[in-house]
Amino acid sequence: MHKINFGSEITAYTGAEELSPLQAKLLAAAKLAATDAYAPYSNFKVGAAVLLDDAAETIVLGSNQENAAYPVTICAERVAIYSALTQLPKAKIKKIAITVITASGKANRPLSPCGSCRQVIYETELRVGNDIELIMQGDSGEVYVVPTVKDILPLMFDASFL
Ligand code: THU
Repeated sequence: MHKINFGSEITAYTGAEELSPLQAKLLAAAKLAATDAYAPYSNFKVGAAVLLDDAAETIVLGSNQENAAYPVTICAERVAIYSALTQLPKAKIKKIAITVITASGKANRPLSPCGSCRQVIYETELRVGNDIELIMQGDSGEVYVVPTVKDILPLMFDASFL
């Protein structure tokens, strides 16, 4: 018998002002996307912004799209990633920022992606051939940054199991 330890490290910043200008710009774009989220059922308006690896530093936005048939809802992260890779199939995604706007402002800790989105971000890393930095913030306050979703997705599943 032996034990396996999934040690991983998150860099926690006091706020967006501690980020690099590019990280801060991406997070601001995600916040803007959140304002347009379609979230009439949860009122939990999530915004995501992906940064492409091109000279123009293209940013593609996503927001959660809810449905009266609740499980049909799609998270902001997947909307952004799939939108980017639909419009630009060869795009390399370098970073993704994720944030939320709630009516009460009580989501005051960094929003981390749901399990399904972590799985999709991981597959996207494999697809584009590089790690994707995650930048996460709640309504306000601390920002968490990890260089790859693998840091927050231990024992991940991929095609090598198939
Ligand atoms: N949601 C996201 O868009 N991303 C996440 O990572 C977590 C959850 C959305 C789905 C749903 O519309 C609302 O937040 C509440 O779960």
